[in-house]
Amino acid sequence: MTPDLLEQGAERVAAHEALVAARGRHTESGGREAGFGRPVEAGQVDVVHGRILYLDDVSVSFDGFKAINKLSLDIAPGELRCIIGPNGAGKTTMMDIITGKTRPDEGKVFFGSTIDLLRYREAEIAGLGIGRKFQKPTVFEQLTVFENLELALKTHKGVRASMFFRLDSAQSDRLAEVLHTIHLAAQVTQSAGTLSHGQKQWLEIGMLLMQDPKLLLLDEPVAGMTDEETARTAELFLSLKGRHSLMVVEHDMSFIRTISDIVTVLCDGAVLAQGTLDQVQADERVIEVYLGR
Ligand SMILES: Nc1ncnc2c1ncn2[C@@H]1O[C@H](COP(=O)(O)OP(=O)(O)OP(=O)(O)O)[C@@H](O)[C@H]1O
Ligand SMILES: [Mg+2]
Repeated sequence: MTPDLLEQGAERVAAHEALVAARGRHTESGGREAGFGRPVEAGQVDVVHGRILYLDDVSVSFDGFKAINKLSLDIAPGELRCIIGPNGAGKTTMMDIITGKTRPDEGKVFFGSTIDLLRYREAEIAGLGIGRKFQKPTVFEQLTVFENLELALKTHKGVRASMFFRLDSAQSDRLAEVLHTIHLAAQVTQSAGTLSHGQKQWLEIGMLLMQDPKLLLLDEPVAGMTDEETARTAELFLSLKGRHSLMVVEHDMSFIRTISDIVTVLCDGAVLAQGTLDQVQADERVIEVYLGR
């Protein structure tokens, strides 16, 4: 093919992508277009290419400092991916980019093969099925465990809809299931303020689970937890993988050892190494910048 034809082809693909993304904002699923001809149901993410998330050559600078530097990474549906790396490596910034909090200067960020996340705002991205857990628990201390979980279903509704909000039976079932998953069934009527630090973290994860996110981003989830709470969190994450895709950032290596399949090491805003924990721990470059400190 001549360069001219190639260029025209690329233009057509780009125009088609723009059309798909524009339609995706106005219809639930973007219709058949969202899947380039494959039927994609409302609320579904097209993972036919085996990726729930991919970042391609993403960069962002803050005042001339490259916090993310040509970062490329992808995650398979149902995968539990661990991300490690030294302070300042860009782990949190990467999550900020995925969730629309920070706009990259360049690069691509796709959810499934058709949803260009850079076209969406932060609140819209949450609605697409990407849940994010920040380090500090942000549960409502005065409310009970039940009320916190119930509230998680209301957050995307207007004031009036929230006032008249009642759980339907599917939502009640989901709430019961989530309570069981996060090991807080016995605390359901307790106010969140009386929970331990670890229990608050689980409650916040439960609030994310109420939305049944396809992808969960968890930034240092076991920081400040007791050993027992950390072990329970590992069990929780292992029970979530498969049904959800997870990206977990942690510095706690024994926790990473318990939950990890593939570990990605970030350094200076890019992937330094990737593999099993044993493989990356044996990598001289990783030892030098991170593990050998
Ligand atoms: N909004 C911002 N403005 C300016 N600099 C920022 C901003 N956000 C992040 N940075 C800088 O970008 C770099 C990457 O920070 P980031 O918080 O992503 O690192 P991290 O890998 O999450 O580190 P840690 O393990 O300490 O949490 C740091 O040097 C940080 O100071
Ligand atoms: Mg961080």
